[in-house]
Amino acid sequence: MNPLGVQYADARARPLSRPAHLGPDAECDVELGCADAQFSFELARAHPERVVVGLEIRERVAEWGQRDAADAALTNLRIAYCNINVDLDRVLAPATVDRFHLLFPDPWFKAKHHKRRVIEAPLLAVLHSRLRPGGELHFASDIYEVALEAMAEVDGDPHSGFVNLVGPWRFARDNPYGARSKREAKTLGRGDRVWRLRWRRLDDAPG
Ligand SMILES: C[S@@+](CC[C@H](N)C(=O)[O-])C[C@H]1O[C@@H](n2cnc3c(N)ncnc32)[C@H](O)[C@@H]1O
Repeated sequence: MNPLGVQYADARARPLSRPAHLGPDAECDVELGCADAQFSFELARAHPERVVVGLEIRERVAEWGQRDAADAALTNLRIAYCNINVDLDRVLAPATVDRFHLLFPDPWFKAKHHKRRVIEAPLLAVLHSRLRPGGELHFASDIYEVALEAMAEVDGDPHSGFVNLVGPWRFARDNPYGARSKREAKTLGRGDRVWRLRWRRLDDAPG
């Protein structure tokens, strides 16, 4: 699956409808590239008062996730199709998200010779605009180089619009969210390290 393939290039995801029973002020967590959305399901179960959203580029996988959420009667959970490189500003309204979780992303496919960075300036800008003041960006990977590049992109840029919650150029040790993605469970099950980063949104927009 190549997220830069032509079939994913059109911005065609639909705006997300928030669960009406929770109201506009309910906290909102969004998992980016959720696959089976284990993290989102666990979070939605633990926090019925929050809106939890899982976004996934593989449409069938997103449909299965939405069906499973309905079967589990998790009315606070939404799973939807979204290419986070082109659709995010259509799917989420400005200043409506409290926490983004970008967990074990595939390094984005790029043209030969280009770096495979996961977090880049355009994505950071849209994440910043969709977060509420003080909102959080949570990133995790089992690949040290991928995590280090993400760290360099944010901590290495004084105008990134984000500040590292545990100090600049530092990985966060613990998972404080009370939920684990499937890939995190597998990584820890193998006894491997999870390279975790947590940033808080600053008021100044990236630029
Ligand atoms: C390695 S899996 C990790 C799944 C889950 N977050 C976890 O930690 O278990 C990465 C997921 O991101 C999805 N993905 C890749 N590119 C994407 C994009 N541009 N927009 C949305 N999802 C994407 C893939 O289809 C895949 O399901």
